[in-house]
Amino acid sequence: MFKILFLFISYSEIILHNFMNNFKKNKIKNLKICTENKKRIDYVKSYDDIEQILKIYRNNFKDSLDSELKNYLLKTPDLTYILYVDNKIIGYATFRLSTKLWLYSTSIVQEYQNKGLGKELLSYALEDVLKKTKKKNVFLIVNSANNARFLYNKLLFNEIIFFSSGKKIIMKKTII
Ligand SMILES: CC(C)(COP(=O)(O)OP(=O)(O)OC[C@H]1O[C@@H](n2cnc3c(N)ncnc32)[C@H](O)[C@@H]1OP(=O)(O)O)[C@@H](O)C(=O)NCCC(=O)NCCS
Repeated sequence: MFKILFLFISYSEIILHNFMNNFKKNKIKNLKICTENKKRIDYVKSYDDIEQILKIYRNNFKDSLDSELKNYLLKTPDLTYILYVDNKIIGYATFRLSTKLWLYSTSIVQEYQNKGLGKELLSYALEDVLKKTKKKNVFLIVNSANNARFLYNKLLFNEIIFFSSGKKIIMKKTII
């Protein structure tokens, strides 16, 4: 039991260590300063940023099983985009790179939804991530009942595969 606990703690420490090293190597720089001074888009820069993203995720998805998301955030902070309003984190978009590039999770704090902020964050993040990863396609999975699919349509994602009896959709955006 203690051995497992020890291994788990060591593994978490290695991930955290790599995460901090990314900053020291200066891989992560300031991103877009938006038109209004009060809005800013940036990469994840600290452990506290990750805690705040997980809080937004839990509130929006009523889901406390966020350990998988946390692991991705720690491993690839430069594939996670944060939207600040008045220096407060109000949304994020995080991508996952395997053989394909996936929009893994995105969400905006409830009081700030339907104000065009999700679209603004995603438009910028998609352009940057596609350039950075040199991919031509980006994929995502959305519940067919989720209005987010209309936002994805506006961002030129196409619905390509329906699965789980039509309850879920794989969407794909291609750049030329
Ligand atoms: C999905 C989410 C990130 C969108 O962010 P948002 O800031 O609320 O969305 P925006 O205000 O930027 O706008 C969404 C766009 O989609 C459109 N849209 C939204 N619902 C729509 C509907 N039912 N029909 C048609 N269009 C719709 C809006 O008209 C808008 O386009 P426009 O600016 O051209 O008018 C946000 O609502 C959220 O966090 N939801 C909860 C978590 C979630 O479901 N995440 C996605 C998981 S796949």
